[in-house]
Amino acid sequence: MDIKFIPTPQKRQKPNFNKLGFGQYFSDYMFEMNFLPGQGWVNPEHKAYGPISIEPSSMVIHYGQTVFEGLKAYMTPKKEILLFRPQRNIKRLNRSSARICIPEVDEALALKAIIEHVKLNRDWVPDVDGASLYLRPIIFSTEESLGVAPSDSYKFMVISSPVGAYYAEGFNPVKIYIEDEYVRAVRGGIGEAKTAANYAASIKAQQIAKEKGFSQVLWLDGVEQKYIEEVGTMNVFFKINDEVITPQINGSILQGVTRDSVITLLKDFGYKVSERKVSLMEVLAAMNDGSLLEAFGTGTAAVISPIGEIYYNGKTLRMNNGKVGPLAQKLYDTLTGIQTGRLEDKHGWTVKVE
Ligand SMILES: Cc1ncc(COP(=O)(O)O)c(C=O)c1O
Repeated sequence: MDIKFIPTPQKRQKPNFNKLGFGQYFSDYMFEMNFLPGQGWVNPEHKAYGPISIEPSSMVIHYGQTVFEGLKAYMTPKKEILLFRPQRNIKRLNRSSARICIPEVDEALALKAIIEHVKLNRDWVPDVDGASLYLRPIIFSTEESLGVAPSDSYKFMVISSPVGAYYAEGFNPVKIYIEDEYVRAVRGGIGEAKTAANYAASIKAQQIAKEKGFSQVLWLDGVEQKYIEEVGTMNVFFKINDEVITPQINGSILQGVTRDSVITLLKDFGYKVSERKVSLMEVLAAMNDGSLLEAFGTGTAAVISPIGEIYYNGKTLRMNNGKVGPLAQKLYDTLTGIQTGRLEDKHGWTVKVE
């Protein structure tokens, strides 16, 4: 299917690429395609970024039938633009959609739309160390109806935002707040889907953690509040003695693209990696007896985020002396090296845009 191109009459003003922050500025072009009753996905087009009009009765506003993705385009030292495993994000978008009855998009068309979107916005891919163009595909329901049911119409869009280095003050360990009152997701729920409701469920705890001086929330399982699930917008890993452990995929944890890449790299490095249930008590005991050597989060935004402190039950516990561990550093250097074309891409993860 060809994608129509409507040139923008006026380019948007670019920010200072050295002071970007996260998700504050939006590039010139957006992609849009509609799902209409009896027609399926039709009318794909690239056009100027700008407001869209939806009715107040649009179902997404009331019942949140919407999914999204997050991936990045990186500028290499040779001035090529690379995407990191975009096919994985597209597959996950379709899996999230299937969970909440949104019709799937054609994977090849979605990849073509993303690649063309980056080409059209090539001036917005920052040529600054640590910065990138963050791509945000979204699908949402548009039927005008107040009945609780799958919508008969949807919009698929891609917008993008130049984002800065995640670590403004360098690659430093973060402080984590263990949340044992609120839960983010439950067994049989929608935790595995990248859908708005999961993020709405997390805002309150995130705000409490911020007020107490912690940057992220570590979520426990929603049934017994005993097992570790994930951290904010990251999956989580613990190095206990020689074993690197990450919570197994169980339906309520997002299947991170970075998580999968880190598991592959750890195996390349010769580590024993276990995807299994890991209880909070196991981690606290390993902290106490000194066998917990490192802990870190993994996700598209931060890539690797070493954990320096955790707060639980009124106590703050330090790990690795509040320093970045050697494994977190090695994973960060390797992954960012592959993503920006500075290291060999042995697994064929990157996709060249141009
Ligand atoms: C809840 C949640 N967990 C984990 C992740 C990490 O996933 P990825 O590595 O694909 O960015 C994200 C970010 O997308 C997230 O929102």
